[in-house]
Amino acid sequence: MRRIIKSFPGVVANDNLDFQLLPGEVHALLGENGAGKTTLMNILYGLYRPDSGQIIVKGREAKINSPRDAMQLGIGMVHQHLKLVSTHSVAENIILGLNEPRFFLKMDEVHDRIHELGERYGLPVNPQQKIWQLSMGERQRVEILKILFRESDILVLDEPTALLAPPEIGELFAALRRMASEGRGVVFISHKLNEVLEVSDRITVLRRGRAVDTRRPSETNTAELANLMVGRPVLFKLEKKPFSPGAGFLELQNVEVMGDKGLPALKGISLEIRAGEILGLAGVAGNGQRELAEVITGLRRLTKGKIYVNGLDFTSSSPLDFLSAGISYVPEDRQGVGSVASMTVAENLVLREYRNGPFARNIWLDFKAIDEHASQLVSEFSIMTPDTRNPVQNLSGGNLQKLILARELSRKPKLIVAEHPTRGLDVGATEYVHQRLIQAREQGSAVLLISEDLDEILTLGDNVAVIYEGKLVGLLSAQQASIEVVGMMMAGSSGG
Ligand SMILES: Nc1ncnc2c1ncn2[C@@H]1O[C@H](COP(=O)(O)OP(=O)(O)O)[C@@H](O)[C@H]1O
Ligand SMILES: [Mg+2]
Repeated sequence: MRRIIKSFPGVVANDNLDFQLLPGEVHALLGENGAGKTTLMNILYGLYRPDSGQIIVKGREAKINSPRDAMQLGIGMVHQHLKLVSTHSVAENIILGLNEPRFFLKMDEVHDRIHELGERYGLPVNPQQKIWQLSMGERQRVEILKILFRESDILVLDEPTALLAPPEIGELFAALRRMASEGRGVVFISHKLNEVLEVSDRITVLRRGRAVDTRRPSETNTAELANLMVGRPVLFKLEKKPFSPGAGFLELQNVEVMGDKGLPALKGISLEIRAGEILGLAGVAGNGQRELAEVITGLRRLTKGKIYVNGLDFTSSSPLDFLSAGISYVPEDRQGVGSVASMTVAENLVLREYRNGPFARNIWLDFKAIDEHASQLVSEFSIMTPDTRNPVQNLSGGNLQKLILARELSRKPKLIVAEHPTRGLDVGATEYVHQRLIQAREQGSAVLLISEDLDEILTLGDNVAVIYEGKLVGLLSAQQASIEVVGMMMAGSSGG
């Protein structure tokens, strides 16, 4: 791809980008959120037209106007958000959109070929199962098999590890290496440094729409890659005082709740979090983490069990009671739950506390106090915004997360429930969030850190709990816990 330019209103997503993929290599596209990785590959796959630039495939200039054109050139893409039809079978999804009309394909032969491909790449699936019966990892296998079925020799995978537990990531990497060894070219998109170093032959770093550099793993390291990604040095050391927990603050006893689909989402959870403790909750998304966070913030009713806050029975307390008891919430959904898009930075910063203290005078709000409070937090938490009257819908993801943290931490909470607090953030913002959570712990807050990122859980957590299908399947001290053991537990294996 040569000198690719692609603009969207207000942003140049690809700014004169060059990218070269060779046969037989796994080539990583590494970059922070918004760097332009997906845009570049959507152009290759015919989903977007570049404003200018050239695409050369197998020595010839190609005009790719649709995914169909791309497929004909041997290009296949697995999107970040999978696009399968959940009521159809694996095999039906795999042949969907093929040129040959369905009746020319013998279903038996299709099944055989899926088995064969699954075996060859270590991606086994049952072709007759329906998509809705499969885990996220298995669905992703189906998407990969779909492009292998078409004999694509240029394979693009957009953030494929985001949905996977560690053992599945290992299997995926083995499959990618296998494809490359057969002479295919594989583009692996990721923002995770250790992953790209592990699986790639070459790594191209994107920053703000530009290709900053291309390196081989043997010629570089995490610190240098982070520097290229962010544009400044990033520290990887977190200063953390030894663990010395205070009194128990929150206790759950045998908690059960229903999920939104009316099925049990938590099945007898008991745990305790103490002052000055970071408890990491590890698990693949969708195993009850969200429901647990909602229980601890008073947003979801229990069907069984008890909750105690500071020794008091909070089992049927309201969200406001939880808030008043000093429980802060950094939710996964920053736009929907965490903030009000149309309100200003200043207004969002007092969403929790506007009823109290300096901000409320009888029934009136004191706007001067609100503005001063906002200015102080904006500078303390380095929130990038032209001013405090800016609606938060104009903030980037990292800055919105800083705003939410500023609001939740500035109340000096007794417990912080932080749900995927760094998901989608770049390395710089991630480091910042980590430092702030550690600081809160040092000031005596309890922290429940819900994350799928095991590195994050193991570096920040004092103790690690693992959740699987609504049950706690392990509780370990951070010293006992290793990526391997916790990873096995996350995938539902007892870990021996
Ligand atoms: N369809 C679109 N419309 C408007 N802006 C877009 C669109 N797709 C991407 N962008 C913008 O282009 C930039 C690059 O986005 P993207 O390619 O998705 O980055 P990455 O995949 O590296 O996270 C971002 O600023 C994003 O907001
Ligand atoms: Mg992307």
